[in-house]
Amino acid sequence: MTCCSEHQHSINTEPQTFEITDFWEEAKDIRTFVFKGTLGSKPGQFCMLWIPGVDEKPFSIARDYDGEIWLTICKVGPATEKLFDMSKGAKVGMRGPFGHGFTVAKKKKIVLVGGGYGTAPLHFTGKRHAENSSDVTMIIGARSADLLIWVDQCEKSGFRTLVATNDGSRGTKGFTTHILEDLLKKESVDLVQTCGPEKMMKAIAQMCTEKGIECEVSIERYMKCGFGVCGQCVTESGEKMCQTGPCVKAQKALSYSDFGVYHRGPEGQKVEW
Ligand SMILES: Cc1cc2nc3c(=O)[nH]c(=O)nc-3n(C[C@H](O)[C@H](O)[C@H](O)COP(=O)(O)OP(=O)(O)OC[C@H]3O[C@@H](n4cnc5c(N)ncnc54)[C@H](O)[C@@H]3O)c2cc1C
Ligand code: FES
Repeated sequence: MTCCSEHQHSINTEPQTFEITDFWEEAKDIRTFVFKGTLGSKPGQFCMLWIPGVDEKPFSIARDYDGEIWLTICKVGPATEKLFDMSKGAKVGMRGPFGHGFTVAKKKKIVLVGGGYGTAPLHFTGKRHAENSSDVTMIIGARSADLLIWVDQCEKSGFRTLVATNDGSRGTKGFTTHILEDLLKKESVDLVQTCGPEKMMKAIAQMCTEKGIECEVSIERYMKCGFGVCGQCVTESGEKMCQTGPCVKAQKALSYSDFGVYHRGPEGQKVEW
């Protein structure tokens, strides 16, 4: 089945079965799961992961190349708890890839800013930029050193990697926005892309817009179908984030009155970020 004529060449709405071939801890309650195969994803896109007996939930693609799909998942509720109980060899369903990913730039100076599990899809994005001869700086933030993820992979991939922790236990004490602000004073940057807490992304979107620097953010909204049918993921301006997003230009994100303020839960109720 395909979702509509517009997308029939690119979107697979039927779940495919994948086996968990490996997993490891990134930090407390954050694990990267490896599945053999491909969805043909672009960086910044997401999949709907069906966890048997519980639910189907959206997750960003952390890697989709060399015959492996990686998802970096934070344990927060029933579906992710069940996934963390599953062993190697267990089977799940996956639909996708869905949504618009990040722009991949050629021969540009790029800064990627990740917070929490938002860092995982940015590594995939950075790989694609680097393959296109772009220069990649990654800024990664967390509350403390033990909650940082993907720092080693970013360093191994040759990205200049800068770290911020709220408590100063590693890297700069403070926020990723402090590092970005300093960097933009000293260096010229063509494009900033960010994925993480929405308040962080809003501050980055405002900073870049004021300085006239191109910027893209990845917006999370409650998602059910993943391809534009259920209407669950609309912003206050009525745009479906599973289709228009999750990656959108900063100016567009800043035009949404709910961006960085609140999102809607499963029953449509407002939930503050
Ligand atoms: C585009 C997109 C990409 C995402 N990428 C990742 C990722 O890479 N890693 C990761 O750990 N999490 C990611 N999430 C969030 C992930 O979908 C939720 O953490 C997950 O659905 C929680 O399910 P649960 O049953 O474990 O917890 P629940 O108790 O059901 O939910 C915990 C919280 O997760 C959020 N959530 C729950 N269901 C959904 C849903 N259907 N759509 C959106 N948010 C939901 C809500 O804010 C809720 O308060 C992403 C969400 C979106 C929309
Ligand atoms: S998740 Fe159904 S329309 Fe976006």
